[in-house]
Amino acid sequence: MVDDARAKSRATWNEMAAGWERKRDFMWRTTRHVAEWLVEHVDARPGDTILDLAGGPGENGFLAAARVGSQGKIIETDFADEMVGVARRRASELGLENVETRVLDAERMDLADDSVDGIICRWGFMLMLDPGAAFRECRRVLKDGRRLALSVWAGPEKNPWVTVTGMTMVQLGHQPGRDPFGPGGMFSMPDPETVRTMLTDAGFADVTVEEMVVDWRYESFDEAWDFMTEVAGAIAQVVKDLSRDETEKLRRTLEENMDAFKTDSGLTLPGVTINAWAS
Ligand SMILES: C[S@@+](CC[C@H](N)C(=O)[O-])C[C@H]1O[C@@H](n2cnc3c(N)ncnc32)[C@H](O)[C@@H]1O
Repeated sequence: MVDDARAKSRATWNEMAAGWERKRDFMWRTTRHVAEWLVEHVDARPGDTILDLAGGPGENGFLAAARVGSQGKIIETDFADEMVGVARRRASELGLENVETRVLDAERMDLADDSVDGIICRWGFMLMLDPGAAFRECRRVLKDGRRLALSVWAGPEKNPWVTVTGMTMVQLGHQPGRDPFGPGGMFSMPDPETVRTMLTDAGFADVTVEEMVVDWRYESFDEAWDFMTEVAGAIAQVVKDLSRDETEKLRRTLEENMDAFKTDSGLTLPGVTINAWAS
């Protein structure tokens, strides 16, 4: 069962890869401050080897590349090979010579004990079917005294940027494929205490957790719709199986439901992420 769910998740993320490549600039504009927090708190130093887990298109790892310099290395990874392809193309476009891209499942890493100086992971752990295994793997491959820095989404009440779409789908009778609160769901690690406990259980002794605002600003409803249906994995999966009429109805209803978030320059949908570093 868990293996089926994992395979399904990997297939979804492979399908999402092209959308993530297309929306890279918007995504980076909106979320760069989270990446900066991670790179600062992983405490990357010249010569270090830093692992970016569940790295998707790779931007978080690329930000760390300048810090480790030509003597250091970024291991840019994801379990979806199409995502790794996106990262590989981008690393080459940016001329980054200290980035190695590879397919890697965070829950069973093909890496030696004590082999990396830092690990970053943005919006990956809560999507994993067994995040406890992934945290234990992090502890195993991370050198003593060095840091894991991560970010996971806070609970639904703090993230209208995604729940407005999710609730609109439910309103129209379209159920999400996965329980958003269960293992692998977007809200499976929804508060600082859960994150702290999971890190401590995996053997991390020193843990700091804080929340950070991530507001999603769209110029228009069309931009919001394109983003949600091309990039948000769980939502895009439901929309792709709807008929033309159902999709049109969802689009119209969502536009009405997003009206509450209108501003002078478009739409602003609030969000909150939970950042943590641990050693
Ligand atoms: C929401 S995206 C985040 C991508 C990137 N970290 C970012 O912040 O832009 C989640 C990524 O986690 C990856 N992922 C999910 N489960 C994974 C696992 N067990 N091992 C490695 N990658 C995984 C997916 O393939 C996807 O690319």
